[in-house]
Amino acid sequence: KKNKEQDEKRGYDYVFEDQIAFVVDEQIKGTNVSDSSSSSDSDSDSQREKTRRRRRRNKTTQEKIDDENDPDSKALRGELGARKKIEADRRSLPIYPYRDDLIKAVEDHQTIVIVGETGSGKTTQIPQYMWEAGFAKEEGVRIGCTQPRRVAAMSVATRVADEVGCKLGNEIGYSIRFEDCTSDKTKVKYMTDGMLLREFLGEPDLKSYSVMMVDEAHERTLHTDVLFGLVKDIARFRPEIKLLISSATLDAEKFSEYFDFAPIFRIPGRRYPVDILYTKQPEADYMDAVVVSVLQIHAQEPKGDILVFCTGQEEIEALEETLNTRVKQSQSTNDDEDGGRSKRLAELVVCPIYASLPTDLQQKIFEPAPEKGRKCVLATNIAETSLTIDGIKYVIDPGFCKQKSYNPRSGMESLVVTPTSQASAMQRAGRAGRTSAGKCYRLYTAWSFQNELDPNTVPEIQRTNLGNVVLMLKSLGINDLMHFDFMDPPPAETLLRALEQLYALGALNDRGELTKLGRRMAEFPLDPMLSKTLIASDKYKCVDEVATVCAMLSCGNTIFYRPKEKQLLADHAHKAFHVGDVGDHLALMNVFNSWQDCDYSTQWCFENFVQHRTMKQARDIRDQLVKMLERVEIDLSSDRNAVDNIKKCITSGFFYHCAKLQRNGSYRTVKNPQTVSIHPSSGLAKELPKWVVYFELVFTSKEYMRQCIEIQPKWLVEIAPHYYQSREIDIDGDAQKQKRTPA
Ligand code: CDP
Ligand code: MG
Repeated sequence: KKNKEQDEKRGYDYVFEDQIAFVVDEQIKGTNVSDSSSSSDSDSDSQREKTRRRRRRNKTTQEKIDDENDPDSKALRGELGARKKIEADRRSLPIYPYRDDLIKAVEDHQTIVIVGETGSGKTTQIPQYMWEAGFAKEEGVRIGCTQPRRVAAMSVATRVADEVGCKLGNEIGYSIRFEDCTSDKTKVKYMTDGMLLREFLGEPDLKSYSVMMVDEAHERTLHTDVLFGLVKDIARFRPEIKLLISSATLDAEKFSEYFDFAPIFRIPGRRYPVDILYTKQPEADYMDAVVVSVLQIHAQEPKGDILVFCTGQEEIEALEETLNTRVKQSQSTNDDEDGGRSKRLAELVVCPIYASLPTDLQQKIFEPAPEKGRKCVLATNIAETSLTIDGIKYVIDPGFCKQKSYNPRSGMESLVVTPTSQASAMQRAGRAGRTSAGKCYRLYTAWSFQNELDPNTVPEIQRTNLGNVVLMLKSLGINDLMHFDFMDPPPAETLLRALEQLYALGALNDRGELTKLGRRMAEFPLDPMLSKTLIASDKYKCVDEVATVCAMLSCGNTIFYRPKEKQLLADHAHKAFHVGDVGDHLALMNVFNSWQDCDYSTQWCFENFVQHRTMKQARDIRDQLVKMLERVEIDLSSDRNAVDNIKKCITSGFFYHCAKLQRNGSYRTVKNPQTVSIHPSSGLAKELPKWVVYFELVFTSKEYMRQCIEIQPKWLVEIAPHYYQSREIDIDGDAQKQKRTPA
């Protein structure tokens, strides 16, 4: 303990390893596809300005502003100031000098690969340039831009709407799962890659898009990888559609090659040098190391904001709390107490950013730091390339990220904290040098970087369950998945496993063709297991309840909160939802129903330590699911007391996720046996029922099942007879004995 305290006083020992200088790369500049036309931008701008002025007949805006008696003068001045700043910002982006070249390149080629440093303006500017160049002139035609992450899609659309000066959802809009913020007027639409994939179901030729930009291609998310194959195909029979594949890394040849050697347009980056610092020794506890490093930078380093890469929401929340407490403590210590050794720390504004953070809080990361203080952004991977935050000078990189991992043999998918790749580490470091020279503190050793990190991240398609995507492709009529044009094909075993799982769920028949049930399942923007659960509720006459459960499960893990100073009260309140230990799914339903019975009251949420924002989101999702149910002609039957029936619906979708209690108190999954445990946050964590069905697995210190219900084993045979045989599940111990008796 003592040692640790000393450590914190002393600070961590960083070895200054090497310095990477990032400078404007003249070499790259010369390789743009089109010759840089020598027309000077300022010339053409002043020309445009003149024509614009000539067109105006009445008093011009400038005249109104100059005329102090004009009632609009003051407001216009403020507005104009803001507009001017935005215009100036746009022009200062590295991409701006290449605007006309880029437009020309798009006119000349159907597909181009665009490469540019994060923050050069690709995402915010290119769709606008395309719009300005007239690519969306015709009515009902728009420009699309996909993003791997919902937060990025929303935040970028917000920014661009600001730049354009329109209300979000008018000319500039976005569309993410369960949230469509677009209108007939929308000309530039940002969306998640998953949403575009769904749009293919309704519009297989993407007729309403004249330009489609697949952004952040280097991220190689599952959906982006599938989109590659689909848009490539569309480009063949729609010669007029333009495809822009944009990426932050310089490894663009692979994309180019895949898209039949499409030309590469490089936007030279502007970066300042970034010093890379490593720790001398490996850090045992990186969370602790993060706190110390942030405080150390805050106390000793010149002005500039800090960006910390965390693995997920839990980590971010824990760090936020610790940092706030520590800064407050330092501010309240009396200088005399410790002989003035510890300094009072200046204000530190801690800003979290992660995918499920409520929209209104997301914009906070873009607000400037306080005059005398500093901003510290705690972000997930999202800040690696999807979001650019200006003013970051210090990056702290613990070297981890949360990744999906999938074992096709056992069919188990889980989220695992894994070391990042070298490529990721370089991207992260780059975030420090965007607006001035910066520093990147790697909380691991130089040796570890060289020897322990993989050079590149494995594309998601090779480490995830493909059930969802296979169902979608089958619905698009793509039957031969083995020969689908994947940039990097998924392992054959994973594909087979997905087909097998969809067959077990009843979505495919034994010839691998989509069944009626499968077609219905594909209507829902949910995982096949959840879709199946929802559809099964029609049979058990509890559609209303199961829709609630599905909506609540789709909101992520942000429903309950536990403030540190009121943990007991919060736990007590949360426990009340587990009436009769029925399981987590039903507890979630109880939360929703009680909230609904209180007229969706905010006060109720406050009293029960439930996040009001998440509840509103759940309500939205629920409303949409109900509409989708109507579309597939399922009536909203309801029976709040049908606990067993609700559980049977969940079992219909999740029989795959079934585990049985062992003598030693752990669980074993029934098919492809593996040891798992009930997550401590579950209402069943102490009950340890004999048979459970779980929603998902998370791996922290061990494999945990999150969100569990107790089931009766005979349901498995009743509900999934083609998957479970009675002897396998040993209903009351007899079956097993019978099996052992020689025939
Ligand atoms: O896509 P790329 O990384 O090339 O850059 P971008 O996302 O288009 O960002 C260009 C500029 O817009 C950066 O200076 C960002 O800071 C700014 N931006 C912003 O202020 N607010 C956002 N929500 C998104 C971008
Ligand atoms: Mg971008």
